[in-house]
Amino acid sequence: MRVLGIESSCDETGIAVYCGDRGLLAHRVHSQVDLHSEYGGVVPELASRDHIRKTLPLIRSVLCEAGMKSADIDGVAYTSGPGLVGALLVGAAVGRTLAWGLGVPSIGVHHMEGHLLAPLLEPEVPAFPFVALLVSGGHTQLIGVEGIGRYRMLGESLDDAAGEAFDKTAKLLGLPYPGGPELSRLAQQGDPDRFKFPRPMVDRPGFEFSFSGLKTFALNTLHQGMKQATSEAAIDRLKADIARAFEDAVVDTLVIKCRRAVRKTGIKTLIMAGGVSANRRLRERIDRALQIEGGRAYYPRPELCTDNGAMIAYAGWQRLRAGQSEPLRFGARPRWPMESLASL
Ligand code: KG4
Ligand code: ZN
Repeated sequence: MRVLGIESSCDETGIAVYCGDRGLLAHRVHSQVDLHSEYGGVVPELASRDHIRKTLPLIRSVLCEAGMKSADIDGVAYTSGPGLVGALLVGAAVGRTLAWGLGVPSIGVHHMEGHLLAPLLEPEVPAFPFVALLVSGGHTQLIGVEGIGRYRMLGESLDDAAGEAFDKTAKLLGLPYPGGPELSRLAQQGDPDRFKFPRPMVDRPGFEFSFSGLKTFALNTLHQGMKQATSEAAIDRLKADIARAFEDAVVDTLVIKCRRAVRKTGIKTLIMAGGVSANRRLRERIDRALQIEGGRAYYPRPELCTDNGAMIAYAGWQRLRAGQSEPLRFGARPRWPMESLASL
């Protein structure tokens, strides 16, 4: 079964074809970074309009790369939530209409289930059950995963998601949007010993996260430091040192909660996905932590950590082959609790 996947929940148009026998046949992502960068963040209406422009041409080029015609598609999967309602509706309208025209089934996929299953696209597939750390621009979640659609939320962010905290802190350091990868690059030049940021909520039991205070901590540290910085070079150093302290605090906090989840559940396999899981320091620290716990961590290649169509094609393939599909009526689900998904 060959499934076309369409991702359009935010500022990337992602298209892919996943084949049950041969794996991922082709995938492409068009990023809207240039479109939104002058506004310092995603402008929803511009995002929707760009998805309208890019979705069909991208489908054509992905089919071409996969050596397929549209008649070769056996099913269509599109992200139907959570995300920006206008952006979601573009992918849903194209996906559902295409499936109807081709006479094949279609399915609306939960964006975070897409992220969660992305590590299964890699050659070494983690076995269920596992603990999943999902860290994206909109979500920070620790989930106990028994199987596809069998998700138990262990804890999530009470305020800013990890990626959102990266982006906001990067912005106050004067870095361009999207700030997460930029901040991480700057942190490489930072002194890890100059500032010590708090590790929020680690002294409380449970698996909740709170990252918004770190951004304020970074802002106050910047203001204090600017009073003493007497040269451009000193300001650059200050910013790099803050970036390093911030990244260390987020990474440390995530690692502490992951170890706690592994110990509490007794499950020694951890998967990590979502944009922030592309972060190099986080990967190294999670690897080491799981080794110490006698377990193992899995995560997708960096290009499949951030938003992409491959994860949607794969999650859709899993559900379509299990016989699930959607009626002709379609819609977007901007808010959609993951625990409400049907199990396979
Ligand atoms: O999963 P994703 O592509 O989109 C959402 O579903 O939100 O995640 C995007 C987030 C952004 O906040 C971005 O800054 C962050 O992931 N991100 C990173 C890195 N690469 C992407 N954060 C820290 N370090 C990175 N290397
Ligand atoms: Zn995402």
